[in-house]
Amino acid sequence: MSHILIVEDEPVIRGALRKLLERHDHSVAEAESVEQAHDLDPADFDLVISDLRLPGAPGTELMTRFPSTPVLIMTSYASLRSAVDAMKMGAVDYIAKPFDHDEMVMAVDRILKEKHISRHNDVMRADLARNWPVTNIIGDSDPMQALLDQVRKLASTDTSALIRGESGTGKELIARSLHEHSERRSAPIITVNCSAIAAEQLEAELFGVEKGAFEGAHSNQRGLAESADGGTLFLDDVDHLPVDAQARLLRLLEEGEIRRVGSLAGRKINVRIIVATHNDLAACVQRGDFREDLFYRLNVVELRLPPLRERGHDLQQLADAALERACERLGRPNLSISEEARDAMQRYYWPGNVRELENAIERAAILAEDGAISADLLGIDPSAKAPRQLADPQEELSLEDYFARFVLENQDQMTETELARKLGISRKCLWERRQRLGIPRSKQASSGG
Ligand SMILES: Nc1ncnc2c1ncn2[C@@H]1O[C@H](COP(=O)(O)OP(=O)(O)OP(=O)(O)O)[C@@H](O)[C@H]1O
Ligand SMILES: [Mg+2]
Repeated sequence: MSHILIVEDEPVIRGALRKLLERHDHSVAEAESVEQAHDLDPADFDLVISDLRLPGAPGTELMTRFPSTPVLIMTSYASLRSAVDAMKMGAVDYIAKPFDHDEMVMAVDRILKEKHISRHNDVMRADLARNWPVTNIIGDSDPMQALLDQVRKLASTDTSALIRGESGTGKELIARSLHEHSERRSAPIITVNCSAIAAEQLEAELFGVEKGAFEGAHSNQRGLAESADGGTLFLDDVDHLPVDAQARLLRLLEEGEIRRVGSLAGRKINVRIIVATHNDLAACVQRGDFREDLFYRLNVVELRLPPLRERGHDLQQLADAALERACERLGRPNLSISEEARDAMQRYYWPGNVRELENAIERAAILAEDGAISADLLGIDPSAKAPRQLADPQEELSLEDYFARFVLENQDQMTETELARKLGISRKCLWERRQRLGIPRSKQASSGG
């Protein structure tokens, strides 16, 4: 359900429009003038539909009051001139009065859909730029067929799901596929990578902020969970979710309710939660980094993505598909993969799985001079069977010793950011190594950030 504000001085048109929108399951608020609309909270609306000519200020003024809400302008004159001016000032679209009902409904649907998509910052915009082959998941191998079977059964339900699999195996692809095959497909799927957003911002990004909740919170902000209303919220790297946000997520799962940071009032929303991780979430629970009750709520169904090296002939098919895409992008027709390269690919360990394969193929396509891609262009080393063998185990061990000692000796005096900087690694990497080596953050240090 979307919240729409109608600003129109003509009561008959206002009433008719309200009825029309309510029949299409939107909730509607009304104002007679720009001045009246000023008393309303911009964060409450997904769309403003306004007459251009109103008593007092013109409808285009609303764009300043509702800067992040699309404003659809109605104009009784249908004069190209005023409509064009309105568009120049930032209206998303205009519609001529008297409007046709279907035309209005279509314009509203389209704008809302675009808004859902363009809402929320770079996280999602980057997401959109990617081309998701959701409908053509490659996977004839037995383990993939078993997985896709599960996906088909699960898609039509509202059950939460936990997707596990090594990095680059297609966890997000499966999440999107679940969404695309569900009743929720006309609503958005919103993807949040919990390790890509700073821990201290994640809670506010996900659940929203009430004006005045903290310094700098100048207006009400809707969270990504709310933006996914009616659709799916996909949390990638869910093991990075901070404790406070874990509590809010649990509430959402149990009561279908979210509370913006700094607000006492709950809001009901309807989202399906899908989470993913390449770590062992049960182990995180055992270490006390992840709430046990939340884990059980999320882990209703576990989908496990097999690593690429266990997918048999899928690998060749994935490579061919990647090559076709790469050639198209590069404007290079007629490339193919040599037998020798195919053999090398089949023997390689692929620690980065499908994503690594796609990157290797793309790089090879750039470097290839003529028809066939040879093994050496792939830049892979098939003799390195397992990641262990990539580095000298002796050296690896002493580095890990050094890491553990450094962290233990300094964590009480340094923040995580400082520790990471001194070690020359990212915070995410620090966190992951802590998990791997079993050195959780000490209670004292964790409040420091
Ligand atoms: N079975 C498949 N068929 C076609 N493309 C695939 C398949 N599996 C993965 N891909 C492609 O591989 C890339 C990586 O997939 P995705 O981002 O879903 O992996 P991930 O497991 O979420 O990775 P990460 O662990 O880094 O979050 C994407 O470009 C995706 O389209
Ligand atoms: Mg992912």
